[in-house]
Amino acid sequence: MKRRDFLKTSLAGAALMGGGGALFAGGVSPIMHPLKVQPAKYGLMPGKITEGMVSTFSDAPPPVLRLKQGAPAVLPVENAMEEYTAMHWHGLRIPNAMDGVPYLTQFPIGPGETFQYEFTPPDAGTYWYHPHCMTMTQMALGLTGVMVVEEAEGPGFDSEEVLNLRDFRLNDDGQFIDLYTGRGAARGGTHGTVMAVNWQDVQRADHGTGSLVRLRVAATDTTRIYKLYFEGADGKIIAWDGHPVDYPVPYPTSPDAPLLLSPGQRMDVALRMPSTEGQDVKLMARVPGGTREMAVLRATGTDAGRDLAELAPLPRNPLAEPDLTSPRVEEFIFGWSPEGDLPNNGFCGTLGYTFWSINRTPWAGDAVEGVGPLATLKLGESVVLRLRNESPNLHPIHLHGLTFRPIRSNKREVIPNMTDTALLLKDEVLDIALVADNPGNWAFHCHVIEHQKTGLAGYIEVV
Ligand code: C2O
Ligand code: CU
Ligand code: CU
Repeated sequence: MKRRDFLKTSLAGAALMGGGGALFAGGVSPIMHPLKVQPAKYGLMPGKITEGMVSTFSDAPPPVLRLKQGAPAVLPVENAMEEYTAMHWHGLRIPNAMDGVPYLTQFPIGPGETFQYEFTPPDAGTYWYHPHCMTMTQMALGLTGVMVVEEAEGPGFDSEEVLNLRDFRLNDDGQFIDLYTGRGAARGGTHGTVMAVNWQDVQRADHGTGSLVRLRVAATDTTRIYKLYFEGADGKIIAWDGHPVDYPVPYPTSPDAPLLLSPGQRMDVALRMPSTEGQDVKLMARVPGGTREMAVLRATGTDAGRDLAELAPLPRNPLAEPDLTSPRVEEFIFGWSPEGDLPNNGFCGTLGYTFWSINRTPWAGDAVEGVGPLATLKLGESVVLRLRNESPNLHPIHLHGLTFRPIRSNKREVIPNMTDTALLLKDEVLDIALVADNPGNWAFHCHVIEHQKTGLAGYIEVV
């Protein structure tokens, strides 16, 4: 699409809003969350201020954005940086024009410009947001936030805790070092040097003794696949990548059998705090050479005596079930293709390498016109996407705008819960099934951002 056409679309959007009044059809006031993308600094390491960060505040992490299922939302994103940006709402099944993918769904937001995102989230659950232009640098410098879409009626928790897991690449003085390396981009990605939760070393919080806590965990790192488990509490995984689980996901309690949460993924966990005041529940991560505390929740006050069985089941989201009687199969090969031209991402940044490909063709770049879709799906059709990993690295494969079920693998027993991001193992062939029920051009890429930005990207068209 040309800039001209984008302007037309966004002007039409603005006219619908009726100027400052911002009333949707039916006179409902939308939930409004203005975001200002800007330079920031913050004490990521004790006693040190990290300069050169990117956030939506000058001195704090991007906020947890709270929306309501089925309620209109307006999110004006102002760009106060000296470079371009665009905001993507990961996991949300919203109209294509609001998806935030530069050149594919909108023109990138220039310095000083504002783009008003308007949508009504159809699904409740835990989602997140991040830029899709200058993705590598802006994400690595801080711009990743959690989005909570609340159910009309909650299942009966006493409290909630939101965890944004991500790393930073800092030196001993707390200042950024190279955000990525060619070596990392060509392999599993470049890991951060400092692990963080909500921009701190460990998230510590008090929750009622014997109470029920809803823990929302989002892995927003550009690279790290988290290996998580719990200590000190009974719990239950109630939602996976936003959606209530249809098939049980084992609650992990041992570093030897951790749960993998890869970049882009989320989980909602029901935790029952200990009955004894002062005891801790811990979210732990297995890391090279040991384990690490991510969150420590301390029981305080008198015993509320709650029981996990008291929670009402989460209401299902309105997802279409793929018809698997005779679905068409579309194949995708994820591989290493170190030759090829550098991607042309226009205003949206390049890493300076090409390493990866889908179907043996590295993504030509966001700004290249006339690059066709990887596949064309008919609106309403059920289809199986066969994802074949020909590389020795792991790839969390993410599809925008649609939700899919992993249904079989040549390597493991899959848990077929609805998702938007599936971890593809080394040499794995994973079949995922979906209904193509949202029209538009949907980005399809690895969520290891170095892989995405060096070729492992493309889009799927639904018409
Ligand atoms: Cu979470 Cu295309 O990204
Ligand atoms: Cu996404
Ligand atoms: Cu990858």
